[in-house]
Amino acid sequence: MSVGRKRTKLIGIIMMVNFFIYVMVENSWNDTEDKKSTKKMIIVEGQFWKTVVHIKPYWNREQHKLDELYNPLTASLRNRTVISIANMHTCKPNLNIKEEINNFDSLPDQFKDFLTYLRCRSYPLIIDQPTKCMNKPVLLLAIKSLESHFDRRQAIRQSWGSEVTIRNKTIARIFLLGKSSQVDDFPDLSDMLKFESEQHNDILLWNHRDTFFNLTLKEVLFLEWINKSCSNIQYIFKGDDDVFVNTLQILEYLDTLNEDKAKDLFIGDVITNAGPHRDKKLKYYVPESVYEGVYPPYAGGGGFLYSGHLAKRLHDISHHVALYPIDDVYTGMCLSKLGLAPEKHKGFRTFDILQKDRHITCAYKNLMVVHSRNPQEMIRIWSRLQNPQLKC
Ligand SMILES: *[C@@H]1O[C@H](CO)[C@@H](O)[C@H](O)[C@H]1NC(C)=O
Ligand SMILES: *[C@@H]1O[C@H](CO)[C@@H](O)[C@H](O)[C@H]1NC(C)=O
Ligand SMILES: *[C@@H]1O[C@H](CO)[C@@H](O)[C@H](O)[C@H]1NC(C)=O
Ligand SMILES: *[C@@H]1O[C@H](CO)[C@@H](O)[C@H](O)[C@H]1NC(C)=O
Repeated sequence: MSVGRKRTKLIGIIMMVNFFIYVMVENSWNDTEDKKSTKKMIIVEGQFWKTVVHIKPYWNREQHKLDELYNPLTASLRNRTVISIANMHTCKPNLNIKEEINNFDSLPDQFKDFLTYLRCRSYPLIIDQPTKCMNKPVLLLAIKSLESHFDRRQAIRQSWGSEVTIRNKTIARIFLLGKSSQVDDFPDLSDMLKFESEQHNDILLWNHRDTFFNLTLKEVLFLEWINKSCSNIQYIFKGDDDVFVNTLQILEYLDTLNEDKAKDLFIGDVITNAGPHRDKKLKYYVPESVYEGVYPPYAGGGGFLYSGHLAKRLHDISHHVALYPIDDVYTGMCLSKLGLAPEKHKGFRTFDILQKDRHITCAYKNLMVVHSRNPQEMIRIWSRLQNPQLKC
């Protein structure tokens, strides 16, 4: 045989083998497909969803109602006479609460209060700052405070919270307050607050009792105020009045962000895989009859930084999330509803820095938030950080 014919024969054989492999693979493929599809053929009769009726804890049930209300698939099927958006956001006390939760009488008083007014989220502003954002600040420092904390507020004004413009970036400051109510035997400080507000134009005071469990209310009311009076803000820092904030470091960090990252920014000291504490003695105790489940990732309420764009989205979605007694967990719940999670940043030290570094100025240089510091420490650390001779 010549070389040419040998090659033709070889090519012929290879083609035949290839063809056989093709036929075998194709057949076995079809076989498995058939098997799979016959196994999967289940004909559903009636509704294909399950109505969850046995959710026990009160908060989970309230959330379930909101989910149904705002879910476009179930909204058209719901019994409008029973649940309506107006009912879910009413300010009338819930007088049926005793029947809706089994051990109501044995709950701590603050839970009784919280559950009775859970659906109310509109309280009037007694002191407003409608022009706060007129000069287009880049960063708004929003600080949770109490009426009587005059010295903390003043220390913040004199240190990290001063309203300055640095490299064309203007910083604005606002304190978030509720009423330290005479019902709770607090002295009446209204006149002093009025004076303070006229002096500094940085007080927002709402007419709700300023309690630990009402901090979530403060968060929701603040987001509403942002939507109304500061909707063009680029970034918001929200925190407590006992943290030290390195505002300059925050500005530097913001300068490094690209457009995508800046849009949905939410950073802080993030806590993951947490859940409700069941020990009655703890500040964060939540009874089994109120909440069941893990918490979504959330940034500790001592201080976190987020974008104005995200504040707007959080404001919208907050109407779909039932108020929860712990404010930072609530914000995590809203983020999770948006399909987002806060990002951990090592510059946020809500559990403080090492004891040996407390008095070393350079230890604060690259941090953004340190908890906790008293007014004197705030002023001291801040002025040392400003020292042009400081070499780190
Ligand atoms: C809706 O709820 C009301 C009040 O509970 C009840 O009287 C009515 O029969 C319900 N309607 C439907 C269609 O289930
Ligand atoms: C600051 O802003 C003004 C007015 O918007 C502008 O003219 C100036 O160039 C800016 N300066 C810097 C350093 O960005
Ligand atoms: C929150 O504030 C409202 C309005 O003052 C009050 O009725 C309610 O008892 C407060 N809730 C808690 C848990 O303190
Ligand atoms: C938020 O602000 C926009 C624009 O001012 C307004 O139309 C809208 O009603 C506000 N949303 C809420 C829920 O208040």
